[in-house]
Amino acid sequence: MAGVSDIAFRTLCREAGADMAFTEMVSAKGLSFANEKTRHLLALAGGESQVAVQLFGHEPEVMASQAAWIEDEMGESLAYLDINMGCPARKIVSKGDGSALMKEPDLAASVVRAVKGVVEHPVTVKFRRGWAEGDETAPAFARRMEEAGADGVTVHGRFAEQLYRGSADWGVIARVREAVSVPVVGNGDIRSGADAMRMAVETGCDAVMIARGAEGNPWLFSQVQAALAGEPEPAPPTVEERIAMARRHAELLTHREGRNIVRMRKHAMWYMAGLPGAAQARGRINYCTTLSDFDAVFDELLEIARERS
Ligand SMILES: Cc1cc2nc3c(=O)[nH]c(=O)nc-3n(C[C@H](O)[C@H](O)[C@H](O)COP(=O)(O)O)c2cc1C
Repeated sequence: MAGVSDIAFRTLCREAGADMAFTEMVSAKGLSFANEKTRHLLALAGGESQVAVQLFGHEPEVMASQAAWIEDEMGESLAYLDINMGCPARKIVSKGDGSALMKEPDLAASVVRAVKGVVEHPVTVKFRRGWAEGDETAPAFARRMEEAGADGVTVHGRFAEQLYRGSADWGVIARVREAVSVPVVGNGDIRSGADAMRMAVETGCDAVMIARGAEGNPWLFSQVQAALAGEPEPAPPTVEERIAMARRHAELLTHREGRNIVRMRKHAMWYMAGLPGAAQARGRINYCTTLSDFDAVFDELLEIARERS
């Protein structure tokens, strides 16, 4: 998730049970200009492994040369390279990137062929149910990507035009599963272990991908692991555990360069959602700029929770 799945977030998700994690999407064009901000997105935590890098772009040569550069740079830590053909954001699709590629299957196939031609790691593609609402092109698109050499696909069950509205259709994941023989990852609206289990059973997908459900909630991965293993779901985190996780998240963010602690504002809101005193704390969170600013808010929330219990 752009703006979310940095080193700190990935570390906490992996510790909680995620089998692998993705970088934020990385612009191939940005990398080709050796843009430091773009390169920063590829920084890993010490010892971090099983990270997939997601590239976006639409020019086959640029995508291929940057994929090769990433493979060289990341070596053992790289799990695979994923190509973003699902992002519906205006600033991305207006340049022909992200889900705009679903409207150009020939070009999309060329991108996959070009990248596959230069890297040894598996290359996967992530896309949506289709571009226009009601026009489900994902199964045919998945077949094109497989023919072009994709080693796996991830399907988010919404149309690009839908953005994040409505709910994800999991039927399309099953239809893509039928259409191709490479692994299929199902994605969209998993909020509990039971959801993950239901998606796996209903669609036959080979893995599930979780995005928003993990915001402020890395415990979701242990719940999903338990559900998929047929074990009882672990108890939800206590207020103390939520605040301790938020503090740890803030600490991890301070280790990154630049003003990254500011990123903690949205994470703090997510960790605090539904806690007593959260509404009043929101305003203060928006002015936090240091670890101790966040700690003060967390201390106060803990005190309120203790008074109420
Ligand atoms: C803030 C945010 C950033 C995202 N960034 C990316 C991205 O960089 N690459 C990508 O493939 N999908 C991205 N997505 C989409 C998610 O990966 C996922 O496909 C979508 O949110 C549906 O899954 P969910 O219901 O588990 O959130 C992003 C979603 C959100 C909310």
